[in-house]
Formats: sequence, structure tokens, C-alpha cells
Amino acid sequence: METTTSTRGLTLITGGTGKTGRRVAERLAAHGVPVRIGSRSGTPPFDWEDRGTWAAALDGAEAAYIAFYPDLTVPGAAEAVGAFAGLAVERGVRRLVLLSGRGEEGAQWAEEAVRASGAEWTILRCSWFAQNFSESFLLEPLLAGELALPVGDVREPFIDADDIAGAAVAALTEDGHAGQLYELTGPRALTFAEAVDEVARASGRPMRFVTITLDQFAAGMAEQEVPAEMADMVMELFTTVLDGRNSQVADGVQRALGREPRDFAEYARDAAAAGAWNPSLVPA
Ligand SMILES: NC(=O)c1ccc[n+]([C@@H]2O[C@H](COP(=O)([O-])OP(=O)(O)OC[C@H]3O[C@@H](n4cnc5c(N)ncnc54)[C@H](OP(=O)(O)O)[C@@H]3O)[C@@H](O)[C@H]2O)c1
Repeated sequence: METTTSTRGLTLITGGTGKTGRRVAERLAAHGVPVRIGSRSGTPPFDWEDRGTWAAALDGAEAAYIAFYPDLTVPGAAEAVGAFAGLAVERGVRRLVLLSGRGEEGAQWAEEAVRASGAEWTILRCSWFAQNFSESFLLEPLLAGELALPVGDVREPFIDADDIAGAAVAALTEDGHAGQLYELTGPRALTFAEAVDEVARASGRPMRFVTITLDQFAAGMAEQEVPAEMADMVMELFTTVLDGRNSQVADGVQRALGREPRDFAEYARDAAAAGAWNPSLVPA
């Protein structure tokens, strides 16, 4: 794989404090690429829900990493991503890398919008992130010892966010990735029960996985006062996307980075070593 760096201009990283964006920003900064974090806490602030913030965030940027929040499946996501990509090109951005999802209609519309923007584009179409178990909504129940989800024996080839960041940095800085769609998955498809077992083993904490019904899951979210938009998004994920359509492993990491993807066991071992499931180290 080509390793020469051809793009070194200011790069806007939307979601730059999130699971993938933080890793992309750290790696680019380590390569000496100037980075601007695009998030509500960035300078200037960038908010997907306030289009008035977009132009200032794009000012002077030559490339951008697009990690839409909360999810490309929410209504209006593709339109927002398309409008953002159009404005980016208008303001001089030459290269766009989109974080996308597998088997989701909304994500595919967002991909089309980025392809039509006129920029050099690369699409990272990802499976479920392994880091959902350590840096997101699955963490709290795991620390409490039980993860209950409306999913049975469906297998998912969880992808390590470090591999996504590696592919994003390659696409943002090297030649040879423009016009490529990389389907990024881990090397092995696991059931959620198997994944929880691996996390339990790596962390040395008692954890178990339980399959519940969609109604039980929806009632649990209502009890925890999960905002309606978020609850709808999560239900969409469990009703339509996790039906086995995404269980196949794909070769995107190999194609983008010229090596095998990291295995879930490696992720669990490293995250445990970093204290991901150590409650005294997890921010309240
Ligand atoms: N999670 C998965 O398994 C998965 C799989 C495939 C694809 N995806 C895609 O990945 C994308 C990101 O998902 P994620 O779950 O990993 O989230 P994430 O990137 O970890 O989300 C948090 C980031 O979003 C920023 N943010 C939150 N609200 C924002 C707003 N209104 N405007 C601008 N930035 C905002 C946060 O910073 P501030 O709080 O500072 O604003 C933070 O940087 C989604 O588009 C999703 O479709 C996710």
C-alpha cells in the first residue's frame, strides 16, 4: 500500500471527540497534519442541528472526515450529510471520507450524497463497533453485570474503531483511496453472547448476556427516559439491521490497509488493560 502523504492541509474531523473521530484526530496530529475538531465542544463549535455553524468549521479546511451524529438511519441524516458535503466543496474542501454503516438504507443515501458532492470521496461502510461495548451505551449494563438486548444468535463481525481510524487516516492522507468503498468488518463474526463472554474473560468481571423481547427492551428505554429519537433509532437497529444481513466478514481493512483487521479478542484484551471495564477508571 502507498504510504506517501499527499494531503496535509487542515482537516476537519466531525465527531472528533467520539469513538472513531477521536482516534482519527489523534493519528493525524501525530502525522503532523493540522486538525480541527468538529463537534459542539470544538472551536469554533460545530453542530449537525445548527447549519449556521458549518461554514466556520469548514473555513480553510482541505479535507473532512464525516461522522454524522447520532446515526445515518435517523430521518433527515442523508439530506444533512449531502448539504454538508456540498457546502464543504463550495468552500474548497477537496477530499471527503464518510463513516457509514452496513445494510442501512439511510446510510446508503448518505453515501450517494457524498459521491455526488464533487469531492474526492472514500466511504468506510462499517459493521458494529467493538467499542460499543466499552465506550458507548453497552458499557453501563456490562459494568452492572448483565447486558439485555433484543437480539438472539445473530452474528456480527464487530470492527475495532482503531481499524476504522487507520482506514480513515489512509484515505485522508494517501493517494489511491479516492473513489473506493471499503466495507470494514472484523475478521470473525460473533453472537452478542459470545462477545460478552470475551469481554468478561478479558476484564475478569462477571458479565452475562440475556436475550429479551423488543417490547421489554422498549419498556426499559421508556423507564430510563431515553429521548424518543434515540429510542426509535435503537429500535430500528434491532428490528431491521440486526437480522443477519451483516453477518458476513468483508475485506475492507485488508484492501485499505494491506493487513488483517484486529480480532475482537485483541480489542477486549487491550481495552481491559486500559481499564475500560474498571469502574473506578470509568468517568461517572
Ligand atoms: N456505533 C456503531 O456501531 C456504528 C456502526 C456503523 C456506523 N456508525 C455510524 O457512526 C456515526 C457515529 O456514531 P458513533 O455511535 O460512533 O458516535 P460517536 O462518534 O462516538 O458520537 C459522539 C461524537 O459526536 C459528537 N456530537 C454529538 N452530538 C452532536 C451534534 N449535534 N453535532 C455535532 N457533533 C455532535 C460528539 O461531540 P460533542 O458532544 O462535543 O458534540 C462526539 O464527538 C453515525 O453516523 C453512525 O451511523 C456507527
